[in-house]
Amino acid sequence: MPVPRKIIIDTDPGQDDAVAILLALGSSELDILGITAVAGNVPLKLTENNARKICELAGRPDIKVYSGAIRPLIRELVTAEEVHGKTGLNGPDLPELTMKLQEQHAVDYLVETLMREEAGTITLCPLGPLTNVALALIREPRIAPRIKEIVLMGGGFFEGGNVTPAAEFNIYVDPHAADVVFRSGVPIVMMPLDVTHKALTTTKRIDAFRKLGTKVGLATAQMLEFFERYDEGKYGTDGGPLHDPCVIAYLLKPELFQGRHCNVTVETSSELTMGMTVIDWWGVTKRPKNAMVMRDIDHDGFFALLVERLGRL
Ligand code: BDR
Ligand code: CA
Repeated sequence: MPVPRKIIIDTDPGQDDAVAILLALGSSELDILGITAVAGNVPLKLTENNARKICELAGRPDIKVYSGAIRPLIRELVTAEEVHGKTGLNGPDLPELTMKLQEQHAVDYLVETLMREEAGTITLCPLGPLTNVALALIREPRIAPRIKEIVLMGGGFFEGGNVTPAAEFNIYVDPHAADVVFRSGVPIVMMPLDVTHKALTTTKRIDAFRKLGTKVGLATAQMLEFFERYDEGKYGTDGGPLHDPCVIAYLLKPELFQGRHCNVTVETSSELTMGMTVIDWWGVTKRPKNAMVMRDIDHDGFFALLVERLGRL
């Protein structure tokens, strides 16, 4: 049995974040060192609670959850209750929290862990705005060469944006943090809307979660039914895009995804295109290639993996 891959999940749950966490918890190839919460889909007080509620749902109160940045580096926090509901996890009726939050700040935890563990062994998995990760890189630049890889959900190019015509939510909320991360020199794998808009939670796929007949299967079906209603209205599709689990699925089965190594630069000055990820897909600039940008997904394989792994919980 190979040694499990060490990961830290940075997240703003969010139903799709929750499914990503469940996928990681159901996969013995991954060793979740910690989960760091950030403000994003809903304010920090809720994301730090939601991350713990999901660990409890999966029967893993031993997972360490840390709370991080309460707001983006420079801009005001923008949230997305219209998509995720007032709590961020609307849909299922989850029990009251009993799990404690760790006392250490998420940014201190990231720095300390990356400086302590063997260099090149930890993968960061950001599923929300990049504020915590950027703050850690600013606070202790020596962590950059020690990070194995950053596999993140964010951005979009061919699909355009989902919060403005140009920008995807995670990058739009904290474009300055995203800029720090994309300039950090750390190897990046990016799951943009171009991929996630091909991974739709159709009725049949949601039924497959419900049919697991478990607490996790039922809660997942209820979360996704709530989550998809907004995007179904917006895009006119059967099902909504299941963004964040693409990050974890890539760690488990990279062959599900296809993309290209490109330069990605984040717009931080024009209000019109704020947070746009400008992807040099055709290599028309001399800017250095700083990210593996995914564009295609085997969506049936992706949902099969999800059902199988959530079925283990
Ligand atoms: C991203 O924004 C959030 O609403 C989702 O959780 C996902 O991380 C998609 O744009
Ligand atoms: Ca998210």
